[in-house]
Amino acid sequence: MNSSKLLSSLERPAQAAVIGAQGGIGQAVTRLLAGEGLEAVQALSRGGLSVGYHGIRTGVIDIEHEPSIAAAAEGLRDGAPLRLILVVTGLLHAAGHQPEKTYRSLDPELLARSFRVNATGPALVAKHMLPLLPKTGKSVFAVISARVGSIQDNRLGGWYGYRASKAALNQLTRTLAVELRRQKPDAICVALHPGTVDTALSQPFQGGVEDGRLFTPAYAAGRLLSVLNDLSAADSGGFFAWDGQPIPF
Ligand SMILES: NC(=O)c1ccc[n+]([C@@H]2O[C@H](COP(=O)([O-])OP(=O)(O)OC[C@H]3O[C@@H](n4cnc5c(N)ncnc54)[C@H](OP(=O)(O)O)[C@@H]3O)[C@@H](O)[C@H]2O)c1
Repeated sequence: MNSSKLLSSLERPAQAAVIGAQGGIGQAVTRLLAGEGLEAVQALSRGGLSVGYHGIRTGVIDIEHEPSIAAAAEGLRDGAPLRLILVVTGLLHAAGHQPEKTYRSLDPELLARSFRVNATGPALVAKHMLPLLPKTGKSVFAVISARVGSIQDNRLGGWYGYRASKAALNQLTRTLAVELRRQKPDAICVALHPGTVDTALSQPFQGGVEDGRLFTPAYAAGRLLSVLNDLSAADSGGFFAWDGQPIPF
């Protein structure tokens, strides 16, 4: 009998891994997963998750450092089949790194860092963790992308590194999905847009957000898990918003 609320379509036994569990959305998603009745939830973050939830195992991962990703993947080999991998890491701004308003601000080091965190890192997570998904039964590899990574949807410009690295993430995700379908036909590989969420990442840019459109991390996390629950293998390779609507690449 499956007693879970949000992830009822995921076969059991199952374990889940959250990469970026210390972030705003990462913590909220980890907290929800703790209540899903999974055999194990592995919460991976750079510093090791400081907030403890019942039923959560914590571990360390730095997605800019491949050996760290490989070591984290090793820690997922034992126990219940790995049926959910959620990559919730991301970089929009940091000390000395603000999103570019104009091409005059383009800086090769900052562009490279955006690609390292937002595109290469999640792809390397796939490299080391997709082999752990079971051969049959629903399983999910989902990366949190952003609507601004949609090339078709780009009308405002700006945020060069973030937009371009998320567009690269979307293409990597689609390419992974094509390959994965041949090996594990029930597996789903998707990119998700969480909406505008009240976290450290969006904090400096929340001024123009319409009333009611700034989501709490808990709301966004619930929506994302609900979207994943409703997806099937036919949706693999897609890019979906928090409300389940497909977003054009
Ligand atoms: N918030 C929004 O409005 C919004 C909108 C669209 C898309 N998104 C996407 O949603 C995802 C989650 O963002 P958020 O809003 O929750 O932001 P956040 O609170 O800033 O979380 C981002 C997390 O990424 C982690 N991270 C960065 N570099 C890393 C690395 N090298 N290795 C491991 N972890 C690393 C950070 O780790 P530390 O805690 O160690 O710094 C942080 O916990 C991101 O992909 C973001 O682009 C957010």
